[in-house]
Amino acid sequence: MPDLQKAAKQAVGEQVASMVSSGMKLGLGTGSTAALAIEALGNRIRNEGLEVCGVPTSFASERLALKWGIPLTTLDQTPVLDLAFDGADEVNSDFIVIKGRGAAQTREKIVAAQAKRFVILIDESKLVDRLGTRMPLPIEIVPMAATPVMNVLKALGGDPEIRMGMKKDGPVVSDQGLWIIDAMFDEITDPEHVNRVLLNTPGVLDHGLFIGMVTDVLVGLNDGTVRTMMAR
Ligand code: A5P
Repeated sequence: MPDLQKAAKQAVGEQVASMVSSGMKLGLGTGSTAALAIEALGNRIRNEGLEVCGVPTSFASERLALKWGIPLTTLDQTPVLDLAFDGADEVNSDFIVIKGRGAAQTREKIVAAQAKRFVILIDESKLVDRLGTRMPLPIEIVPMAATPVMNVLKALGGDPEIRMGMKKDGPVVSDQGLWIIDAMFDEITDPEHVNRVLLNTPGVLDHGLFIGMVTDVLVGLNDGTVRTMMAR
């Protein structure tokens, strides 16, 4: 990761950690930016005795939380969260977000839906004019539904493929034991329609479009400052 991009991710990670106060119940996002926020939160717990607990959105964030000393909880024990933070792959001007490069979008969406405040952490490169053009849309599926779901995605204008493992032969297997299809689009012009169609397709667990969920976006700029955008 280039130094400037790392510095921008670090800045938003530290900023969201500074928004946390003792007693808060948190959602802990997944990905390289959320990882820096988890580390910054761990530093505050160690240095200031901050008392918080968090629901992890993946095995990866669970392990990071353990590493940095963040007490863990579950949505069964803590169904209402004060604040969830997470990275994103794309954010448009309507605060619609695409997530899931790390295949964690299903749990990320479940956790974000329980949070009073959902804070997205990005660097400037993630701000897009045209949704779905920078990164593919990930869809988590039951393996036997791969071809029917890919046909639905083609009808929606997408170019789908099964996500393959990097250090494992065969498809990526999600934390739920399912597969991920990545669909590149020329542009997702009607995200609500794509959302509706996918959620009505048998075999689809969930997908990476987050619509109407974000409350704040923290954008790390290359000069090391952070721009805050409030969605609602
Ligand atoms: C995890 O599945 C994703 O949703 C990430 O939160 C998203 O891809 C952003 O990741 P980075 O912060 O690593 O760019």
